[in-house]
Amino acid sequence: MVDVNVPIPDRRWWRDAVIYQVYVRSFADSDGDGVGDLAGITARLPHLDALGVDALWITPFYPSPQHDHGYDVADYCDVDPLFGDLAAADALIARAHDLGLRVIVDLVPNHSSSEHPWFQAALAAEPGSAERDRYLFRTGRDGGEAPPNNWESVFGGPAWTRIEGSDQWYLHLFDSSQPDFDWRNPEVGDLFEGILRFWLDRGVDGFRVDVAHGLFKEKSLRDQEVDHEQPTSDAIEMVQRHVTDEPMWDQPEVHDVYRRWAKILDEYGDDRMAVAEAWTQTAESLARFIRPGELDQAFNFAWLLADWSATAFAEIITDTLEAAASVDAAPTWVLSNHDVTRHTTRYGGGAVGLARAKAATLTMLALPGASYIYAGEELGLDEVDVPPEARQDPTWHRGGGKFRDGCRVPLPWDGTEPPYAFGPGDGQPWLPQPLDWEELTVAAQEGRAGSTLEFYRAALAARRSLLAGRGGDVEMLSPPDLGEGVLAFVRGDLTVVLNAGPTSVPLPAGQVVMASGPVSSELPPDTAVWLAQP
Ligand code: GLC
Ligand code: MG
Repeated sequence: MVDVNVPIPDRRWWRDAVIYQVYVRSFADSDGDGVGDLAGITARLPHLDALGVDALWITPFYPSPQHDHGYDVADYCDVDPLFGDLAAADALIARAHDLGLRVIVDLVPNHSSSEHPWFQAALAAEPGSAERDRYLFRTGRDGGEAPPNNWESVFGGPAWTRIEGSDQWYLHLFDSSQPDFDWRNPEVGDLFEGILRFWLDRGVDGFRVDVAHGLFKEKSLRDQEVDHEQPTSDAIEMVQRHVTDEPMWDQPEVHDVYRRWAKILDEYGDDRMAVAEAWTQTAESLARFIRPGELDQAFNFAWLLADWSATAFAEIITDTLEAAASVDAAPTWVLSNHDVTRHTTRYGGGAVGLARAKAATLTMLALPGASYIYAGEELGLDEVDVPPEARQDPTWHRGGGKFRDGCRVPLPWDGTEPPYAFGPGDGQPWLPQPLDWEELTVAAQEGRAGSTLEFYRAALAARRSLLAGRGGDVEMLSPPDLGEGVLAFVRGDLTVVLNAGPTSVPLPAGQVVMASGPVSSELPPDTAVWLAQP
């Protein structure tokens, strides 16, 4: 007898997918100009197929002056000639689908490029005009001399730029070339609904929503309350400094936008999705973005912000699972992306950093929900110390003291010296590659026992065969009998153990089906295993 009350399990593809992030400039270059492009990605799709991921997310490839490498969009419905054209986008989507890979594109709704026709029209128009009302222009304080409020740009310096010869300023939470839209103006919402449909009609499977916690600002644009220290809009800094007054982020109005978008995605069937990049303060505030009828996923950045610690990881896993379950959504996990130091380097760099990175990755891959992996982590790349004169990131040039170029260095595919077959010929890529990457190329690691690439392939294959279709139940064994530095949980008939402590611990019972490094009857430090229970 069938029990009709048992809910049909939600098996939509993205709920337990492994999604590979392609930083378009740095993945593969087809035309030898040193910058990765769409045809380059298409030609290298077999790498992703062999790796065993379910989908790729491609960072922005739309026409852009590239001040923030494409996150400054001048036209949302076309392709920058640097990366190809619409036909190249269609070819990429078609080839990916042939291989069974889904395609997620980046959507940047918080701001446009200052070269977007709307912003150019706003500059040409008068204060108070309909053109200016699509962005956030305001009169400066002190007779126009000072910015309208105390907000800082995420990239450093004030979040306002003055229009020359006028008392008017415009808001940009990022670079001055990225003016923030005024989402209280319905024209902005209409623009983005058209953009969603444009890409859905071309066959994309989903969207990664950039700065999804932005869009709306507190209407008054009041000062941020700060004690003693400088104000900041940088979400990572806000979390780390416990700054809780954030009039520029996470306003309740933003959720109406996602409810409208969810309806549009639904019109295209039940397998199109959207994932939010939302740097909110807590797992609960993040969960609001993935309530039923809103977005499908939100990146969970907690793990990526945590130090190497079994206790911290266990807490994050528990909080994440609880928050996702509270809204009936699938959790997500991510350890690296194009905005943060690679996790090999965060965990200490060198052999230790790599061992820890593989152990964390193997632990992550055993958890229910979607895992995001960032191009190059499957090769075990470290953060590169890009020399100051080669740095390109606006966060560096705005004097924020930070730069993100080190995780964006173009991938090594083959050969013994730069450009390591990143593109045809000897032309050098847009960021210099290290001279010692010979052993890290895809070709050098392919088929080599013990290589990071073969580890990732094996881990993804094991995940598919052992965990696909499994329920979301996780039993945390915390604190495990094995000691303080150990994280352990049970999922189905797998026991997952990560030793983040300083000494070896006895290996619990079970058959080792995946390990991130050598194990004997003991589990060494910086190592994780999956154990099958008989
Ligand atoms: C997001 C992107 C980052 C970009 C910023 C502004 O945080 O991940 O790379 O600089 O938004 O669009
Ligand atoms: Mg190119």
